[in-house]
Amino acid sequence: MVSDGTIETISQTQELSHEYGMEENSDLHVFDCQEKAIIPGFVDCHTHLVWDGDRANEMQLRHSGMTYTGIAECGGGIQKTVDFTKSAPFGRLVQLGKKRISRALKMGTTTMECKSGYGLSVDSEHKLLEINQFLGQNTLMDIHSTWLGAHDVPRDMKIDDYVDMLISEQLPAVIEQGNAHYADVFCEPGWFSLEQTEEIVKAARKHGLPSRLHVDEFVDGNGLALASDLGTISGDHVGHSSDDARDSASKSGTMQTFLPGTPYILGHGLESPLRKCIENNWQFSLATDFNPNCRTLSMPFVGSLATHRLGLSPLEALVAVTRNPASTLVKSTQGPISGSIREGGPADLLILDSEHIDAWCQMPGDNPIYQTVKSGKLVN
Ligand code: NIG
Ligand code: FE
Repeated sequence: MVSDGTIETISQTQELSHEYGMEENSDLHVFDCQEKAIIPGFVDCHTHLVWDGDRANEMQLRHSGMTYTGIAECGGGIQKTVDFTKSAPFGRLVQLGKKRISRALKMGTTTMECKSGYGLSVDSEHKLLEINQFLGQNTLMDIHSTWLGAHDVPRDMKIDDYVDMLISEQLPAVIEQGNAHYADVFCEPGWFSLEQTEEIVKAARKHGLPSRLHVDEFVDGNGLALASDLGTISGDHVGHSSDDARDSASKSGTMQTFLPGTPYILGHGLESPLRKCIENNWQFSLATDFNPNCRTLSMPFVGSLATHRLGLSPLEALVAVTRNPASTLVKSTQGPISGSIREGGPADLLILDSEHIDAWCQMPGDNPIYQTVKSGKLVN
């Protein structure tokens, strides 16, 4: 029984019928799930949702032997998206965001973390965070917004000067605007160093913003070790992190977030020791990393990679796309968020096109969701 977007009672049909007078109560809308399985709405805790432009040409460049870093050095990658996004009007970015949210909802995502990071200036980062907030208020999706000014360095600046500018100008402006719940840094050799990352994380913390970081995506740069030393909320990508760092992260409560769609798209090995995490009891989440290079908003596809390719059971993978990521977000919001099915919790539910909950991740290239229910409203 759902009321005002909240699950009021969970019980057998007959008991509910008796308690709420299903037959005679005309205020009640009865939805027949036809014995299909129900799971909680997905929590996609790592996305770069709002940007403009198209980088579909980069696959051919990779096939010709260029790396992600090489493409970035030749004017592609993040900088190219920054150029498109900076000049895009607010309204166009809102429309792009709305379209993407509508697709994500249909595929079962009911809560989403969304990063800025394709602005790299006070005004453009401000615009992106404002759009995140607008989308959270004007769509059904719950949006948790992250400031990622430290995604790359503007072409006309030196990295040290940009880090100074991030801390002395962008961060205070972000705080004043009040639209960001978190800070993030692309901590990777070739982008922001461990020292620069630490500086930004500590400055953000002084202003009350906790961090979730991009670390160890291409090599083990000790990023997850730093994240756990600093006690950040999460370390994301973590494909190359050491076992020691994973163990420390688990002990310090820093969630590892694997984003297997990205190495899949880059043509790398999937680099996600998920079974090892289960065996060692290291908590982890899974997310899409939706961005101009990895254009999937499908958590069921991520689930397919985790189960068909990386050895998780569907139930283990389900925890990593619902309860675990939800536990990294609750700290920043008032109300309860998705992530589990419980009385008093939000009515963010997915009715699958199957009687088995295991079906949620077993239709790659297709949508296993028969109906998304967001805050009690039918979406599909
Ligand atoms: O998480 N690695 C850094 N940022 C994004 C990619 C951004 C882009 O290529 O536009 C990521 O994969
Ligand atoms: Fe990312």
